[in-house]
Amino acid sequence: MKIVITGKGGAGKTTIAGALARHLAHAGHAVVALDCDPNPMLGITLGFGPERTEAAPAVLNMLVEMGHTHNDPDPDPEGLLEQFGVEGADGLRLLTVGRVEQLEGACVCCGSHSTTRKLFSNLPHDGRIVLADLEAGLNDLIWAHPGREDVVVAVAEPSAKGVEIVRRACQLSETLGVSRLVAVANRASPSDAENLSRVTGVPAFAIPEDPAVAAADRDGAAPYDTDPSTPAVLAIGELVGWLGVPKRPAAEQPLPAG
Ligand SMILES: Nc1ncnc2c1ncn2[C@@H]1O[C@H](COP(=O)(O)OP(=O)(O)O)[C@@H](O)[C@H]1O
Ligand SMILES: [Mg+2]
Repeated sequence: MKIVITGKGGAGKTTIAGALARHLAHAGHAVVALDCDPNPMLGITLGFGPERTEAAPAVLNMLVEMGHTHNDPDPDPEGLLEQFGVEGADGLRLLTVGRVEQLEGACVCCGSHSTTRKLFSNLPHDGRIVLADLEAGLNDLIWAHPGREDVVVAVAEPSAKGVEIVRRACQLSETLGVSRLVAVANRASPSDAENLSRVTGVPAFAIPEDPAVAAADRDGAAPYDTDPSTPAVLAIGELVGWLGVPKRPAAEQPLPAG
C-alpha cells in the first residue's frame, strides 16, 4: 500500500505523516517513510531527533556523489532502501530523497522530484506501507504520480489558500485515477472539515489545534513520543481508519508490551 501526503507549505503534512507512520508501525505494519522534501524534516516528527535527521543519507545526494545523475536508469530501489534507509521506532524505516546542501552541482530541485518518482513508483509495497511526505504544493504530487491503488491525503489549514490547494490536489488525484482520497482539515474544527469536504467533494477529517504539537516541535521531538494521547496525535490515529489500511492477520500482530 502506498500513501502520499500533500498540501500547502505549513499545512501540517510532516506532522501528520510522522504521527501516521508511528501509529502504523506501532500497529505492526512494516512502514517505509519517504521524506520527499529537499529540506528534510520528517525524521524529527518520526522521533529521530534533529541530529540523526540531519545525518540521514539522502538518496539523490549519495547517487550524485557516486557519479550518477538524476537521469540515470533506475538503480534498484530496494537496494537504495537497504543502503540508505535509517531504522526507527517499531522497525519503521526513514528514506530521505534529497537534501539541499550546496550551491553548486546537480540541480536538487529536478533531482529530488525525479528521485521521488522513482522511489515512490518502484519501491515494492506488497506487505508494507510506503508513506511519502511530499514537498509543499502540487508539483511534487504530479511527480510522485499516485495511481489507482494508492491513497492521497491532502492537508489544509482552514485558510482560503490552503483549501484551494487541497481542492486542486483532489482534482489532480482524481485525474490520476486515485480511488481513495481523504482531505484533512488541520488545526481545525469539525465544521472546517465539513467545509473542506463540500469544496473538494471528498470525505474530510478534522485534526484539532494542539499546543502539545507545537511544544514537541520546539524541542525537536516527535509529538507521538512526547504525548501519544494528546488530541492531535489521537486524531491522526483515527485517520488511519479512513485510509483503508488492510488489517494484519492476527498471527502477525505485535505482542502487547510488558
Ligand atoms: N494540529 C496542530 N496543532 C498545533 N500545531 C501544529 C499542528 N499541526 C502542525 N502544527 C505546527 O505547524 C507547523 C507546520 O507543520 P508541518 O507539519 O511542518 O507543515 P508542512 O509539513 O505542511 O510544511 C509546525 O510548527 C507544526 O508544529
Ligand atoms: Mg513538511
